[in-house]
Amino acid sequence: MKSKVGSRKSEVGAHGVCPTQKSPIIYLDNNATTQVAEEVIEAMLPYLTQYYGNPSSMHTFGGQVGRQVKQARDNVAALINADPTEIVFTSCGSEGDNAAIRAALAAQPDKRHIVTTQIEHPAVLNLCKKLEQEGYSVTYLSVDNKGQLNLNELRATLNDNTAIVSIMCANNETGNIFPIERIGQIVKERGILFHVDAVQAAGKLPLNMKDSTVDFLVMSGHKIHAPKGIGALYIRKGVRFRPFLVGGHQERGRRAGTENVPGIVGMGKAAELAIAHLNEESTSVRTLRDRLEQGLLSTIPDCQLNGHHSKRLPNTTNIGFKYIEGEALLLMLDREGICASSGSACTSGSLEPSHVLRAMGLPYTLLHGSLRFSLSRYNTGAEIERVLEVMPKIVERLRAISPFKGEEDEKQGWLQTVTSDQLPVTNERLAKR
Ligand SMILES: Cc1ncc(COP(=O)(O)O)c(C=O)c1O
Repeated sequence: MKSKVGSRKSEVGAHGVCPTQKSPIIYLDNNATTQVAEEVIEAMLPYLTQYYGNPSSMHTFGGQVGRQVKQARDNVAALINADPTEIVFTSCGSEGDNAAIRAALAAQPDKRHIVTTQIEHPAVLNLCKKLEQEGYSVTYLSVDNKGQLNLNELRATLNDNTAIVSIMCANNETGNIFPIERIGQIVKERGILFHVDAVQAAGKLPLNMKDSTVDFLVMSGHKIHAPKGIGALYIRKGVRFRPFLVGGHQERGRRAGTENVPGIVGMGKAAELAIAHLNEESTSVRTLRDRLEQGLLSTIPDCQLNGHHSKRLPNTTNIGFKYIEGEALLLMLDREGICASSGSACTSGSLEPSHVLRAMGLPYTLLHGSLRFSLSRYNTGAEIERVLEVMPKIVERLRAISPFKGEEDEKQGWLQTVTSDQLPVTNERLAKR
């Protein structure tokens, strides 16, 4: 079942094109989303064209589609060393997180306590806030200034009323990795269900669900070079599961709705590729990340790494540049065709600093001047050298016009009360982007 992708490559190149530079963009925002692999598109196309049958149909035409869905399930299961029957396809990571936590609560209606961390993705945090409104109590575990959890705090908070513990495998902003199996042992000693958001970890770290303490594990296709709109939820065999989406009997009754076959096939292919490239993540991707990080830290004064030095995803670096603002840096990088991300969530008209960096207790100047670079196997050494060439100049220019001049300002404390219109980039300017 092969189909030609046609002239996609010649039309858009390996990456998108920067509108101002008319050159290929340098994409260093892979924790936000990834480029869809060419092989994934090749694998998906026949299921958008010739093979449009319903995988649940009795006829041969539908049956051959069903076989591809099965193959994709096998591949996704292999990525985390699970049994294929333990994999449920979803629409995204957020759905997986919601479905797992809601299912755990529905299965234990007498338990009303949830444990999570202050640095989860909004897919978990906002669900927990909603659950608080519904009468649940939630403990948000704190982290230290390197973003690490205190496992004694976890131990102390678990009680007979705790229904589920939800802790991410790797943080999307800093890349910090948590000791999931050690955490799981503590959780299991109390017989509590354990949910792990592995959206950032899958495909970047080896994950093994055989003999694991994890009950639910969530993945998302668009973080592993599959398209947006597809995800997977691992549900350990034997764990009671109440479906979030009710209707037909698809996914063994665990998620209703006719399957997103092209997405599923794409995620299966992406999982196969991720397994093949897993070593590359910890070798060549890590080498490029380290070159970028060390280059920035050694050439630019007053900047520091946010997060743990070694217990971290191999593709992620989050660096705080004092006395300037992350959004201003992003705008300047954008003009050079370089895509990165700041921790700030510029929503609801305020320049809210990242909840992750805030939970780590970072000082004001680092909170607002932090950038995340997240790489993938598609990045090259030449791209990293280009970033290292432009970043020092950008930082110097922004610092020259910054109202924050240095340690004296910081000591005097007036930085704490500065309003957003005093910052180099205002909300209005951001809104016009
Ligand atoms: C750690 C983490 N969890 C959940 C999500 C949500 O995944 P999705 O975008 O597939 O809903 C993301 C997306 O950035 C993430 O980084």
